[in-house]
Order: sequence, then structure tokens, then C-alpha cells
Amino acid sequence: MNQRRTLIVANWKMHLNTSQASLLVHRLHERIRIHRNIEVVLAPSMLVLQPLSTQIDRRKFRLAAQNAYQKDEGAFTGEVSFTMLQDLVHYALIGHSERRIYFNESLEEIRDKVAAAIRNDITPILCIGETQHEHKAGETKQVLHDQIVTALSNLTAAQVKEVVIAYEPVWAISTFGGTLAKPTEVQHILDFIRHQVSQLYGATAAEAVRVLYGGSVDDQIVRGYLELEGCDGALVGGASLNYQKFAGIIDAAHRLQTETGDDA
Ligand code: PGA
Repeated sequence: MNQRRTLIVANWKMHLNTSQASLLVHRLHERIRIHRNIEVVLAPSMLVLQPLSTQIDRRKFRLAAQNAYQKDEGAFTGEVSFTMLQDLVHYALIGHSERRIYFNESLEEIRDKVAAAIRNDITPILCIGETQHEHKAGETKQVLHDQIVTALSNLTAAQVKEVVIAYEPVWAISTFGGTLAKPTEVQHILDFIRHQVSQLYGATAAEAVRVLYGGSVDDQIVRGYLELEGCDGALVGGASLNYQKFAGIIDAAHRLQTETGDDA
């Protein structure tokens, strides 16, 4: 039995205004039960974080930002800093492939965002993943290696222990094609990621880091990923907008824990 708590993250992307988000949380609240060993995190739009923070039952849900700016304060028109989010969120997605691809976020910018999150006591959920082109060219490990090494390079081993890494092959994300990744293939990469962390920061850090899988995950297929060795949860996009599907994902995680005795 591992000591890492399962993490199920809903990435709502640029969907749901304040009242739509409030309705979804209401439905999720009715449908989801509290499980000691499962953490459920909602990542709504920036605009919706504040109102949701007063609505959510904190025993059931935690909040995440989908992005933030790496400087703490200053003349950066249009940006919101991790410092400003400090009392509002536990987590922040960093380096999601939509940010890397549509907003040209560089490896260095992502590194600075990870450091800014840690500096402000927000747990980074570092998203990594190779594109279809890189996958086909056999460059997956090199790409992931570069993403991991750069993103974590300003952290100490103790800080790395806190980080969550979400492996999301770009080609498996619903909006970029949504080809389902084979669990056996994902297993190989999860092992590779933990091995990288171990090489860079030691076995203790590698054992503590939580590694998630994301890419077209829904209630029907989530189990195939959650039961992989060293898979600590899921990052869910499309299916997280549907309360039945999202609640079904949490049910599947709970069922798996009950069967394996990890719910104690
Ligand atoms: P998806 O998105 O579940 O819709 O593929 C996952 C993500 O982009 O985080």
C-alpha cells in the first residue's frame, strides 16, 4: 500500500460561467461522498475561483487555478499572480499543453511558474506530455526528460516531494485528437517519470511525488489507468464537465481502493 493520496482533478478549461459552475458544484456535492484517501480538486476559470471558494464543502473539494503568472506583483497588465491566489487555492495546473501550444509557454517560463507556486505555498500540478509528432518520431522520453529537468530545476529535493506531475500525452487529450493511450504504454512512461525524479532528486523524493494520468479519461476507462503501478490519480478535462461522469470516476477510484485495501 502506498502513502500517496489519490488525486482526481477536474480541469474545466474555459468552460462554465459563475452560475453554471455553481450549478455543477451543487450537483457534484449531492452525488459525491467523502473518501478519506481521495482528494477531489476542481480547476474552474480564474473568474469563478472566488465565488466557488465560498460555496464548496472543503471536506469534499479543493480548488486549483488553471494558470497564474510567475511574478508575485507588479506592472503586468492582465495577469494574476500565485501570491494573489494563495488563500484561494491549494493547487495550480502549470504547463498544461494548451498553454504550451496556444500560448507558447516555454520550458523556462514553466520552471518559473513552478517555483512561484512553491514560493506561495501552492502545490504545482506540472503537466507534461509529448505531441503526436514527437511520439511518432520516438522522442517521447527525450521530450519528457527535458520538460521534467527544466521545470524542477529551481527546487530542492524537499520541495520536489510536494510536486504533482500529470502525464498527458498531447495526442490523447480530447481536444487534440483524443486517441486513447494503452495502459501498458502509460505504465512504461509513469515508471520513466518516477525514475527521472529519482535520478535528479533521490529515491525519497521520487517515492513522495504524485504522478497522475490525463487524456480523454472518463468513468468507463479510468480504472485501467488508476490500477497502474505508481498512478496516483487522474487529470480530467471533458468528462469533468458532466457530473455523472466525474462522480463515476471518483466511484471507480474508491472501488479500486476498497478492493486493494488502500482505503484505510
Ligand atoms: P480531456 O482533457 O480529458 O478532455 O482529454 C484533459 C486535459 O486536457 O487536462
